[in-house]
Amino acid sequence: MRSRKVNLSTMIFLMILQGAAMMLLFSWYMEFSHGGHAPSDRKVHVLLLSSWRSGSSFLGQAFSQHPSVFYLMEPAWHVWNILFDKGLKVLRMAVRDLFRGMFQCDFSVMEAYLPEQHNVSALFMWFESRALCSPPACPLTPRNQLSNQTRCKKACDARGLQLAQDACSTYSHVVLKEVRFLELESLYPLLQDPHLDIRIIHLVRDPRAVLRSREAVAEGLARGSAIVLEQKNIPTVELQYKVMQEICRSHVRINERAILKPPPFLEGRYKMVRYEDVARNPLEEMNDIYEFVGLEMTPELGEWIYHVTHGRGKGSQREAFKITSRNAADVSQAWRSTLPHEKVKRIQEVCKGAMSLLGYRTVDSEEEQKSLEIDLLVPRELI
Ligand SMILES: *[C@@H]1O[C@H](CO)[C@@H](O)[C@H](O)[C@H]1NC(C)=O
Ligand SMILES: *[C@@H]1O[C@H](CO)[C@@H](O)[C@H](O)[C@H]1NC(C)=O
Repeated sequence: MRSRKVNLSTMIFLMILQGAAMMLLFSWYMEFSHGGHAPSDRKVHVLLLSSWRSGSSFLGQAFSQHPSVFYLMEPAWHVWNILFDKGLKVLRMAVRDLFRGMFQCDFSVMEAYLPEQHNVSALFMWFESRALCSPPACPLTPRNQLSNQTRCKKACDARGLQLAQDACSTYSHVVLKEVRFLELESLYPLLQDPHLDIRIIHLVRDPRAVLRSREAVAEGLARGSAIVLEQKNIPTVELQYKVMQEICRSHVRINERAILKPPPFLEGRYKMVRYEDVARNPLEEMNDIYEFVGLEMTPELGEWIYHVTHGRGKGSQREAFKITSRNAADVSQAWRSTLPHEKVKRIQEVCKGAMSLLGYRTVDSEEEQKSLEIDLLVPRELI
């Protein structure tokens, strides 16, 4: 009788021990299963690498609104704005070093590019960042709620940059969206830095749709275009094609670098995303993207993503800088009815390599261009 009782309590003890051991193993597994390179501070650093007019505002917002994310939109805008006449070679390194600091929530490099007297409103499009509208940066929006930019702009603009820096360090993910990387090589030191755990999401879009969108806002893009073209003197009619040629080449360079023969530190850290796939299957694609960086979809975000991608309206260009409710799938096809066929032919020539690599079919005639039942997107699994 007695020995049986001892056996029972021994059994219970062993079961508890086993449970504890399993939990420990599970937590180790979780730690190392994410590629086996969890750094000591455990933050994930996401670079949302895209180009102008490629739908990166939407993707940026899908990160920015996430309760675990500290997001900033285009920090390199400041570098290009101040050093615009220095040439791409200098800019690349300055931007790289800015990103190293920002990923680690060290805003001191950024301060070098800001006016003497500054607060958070000196940051480019700062109100796009939900984290800058939430505690500890600003009391306005609870961290698990969607932020309203109009209200944030009014209530949170005069806060010091130190608060933004403090806020940054309280999040598990730092996400920086940037359109000013035309290559990956300058980022190699960051990818190899043991303090950083970088994921690169490379967002691309059909160059014909990008051209149409760029034409609508050409003036706003002029300074960036001049930098991309190394200040070369190019006739106005040719300018957009030359810029697009550089952008298309950069997509090829980046994608081939990451996919064909990636250096070991790039493996598992790069994901190419096509805007059109997101427009067609927003929830599915966003789920994949979140999973790639170790974030979970929340019910509120799922609803928000559905709402902004299924609104009405055929994508008027006036709305193009904003995140508004419109049917994303319609918007991604709008170029087919509005871009003159001559321009379509030209951009197809200029971006031939990129289009074939990224899975965008060319059209051979105006009829083909306008027949929306012809699908020009090569299925993901075939590229
Ligand atoms: C954001 O707030 C403004 C001002 O309070 C309001 O008019 C607007 O409808 C809000 N936007 C959304 C999307 O809730
Ligand atoms: C902070 O931002 C507000 C609003 O933009 C501005 O009026 C104020 O002068 C700024 N303060 C400093 C110290 O720059």
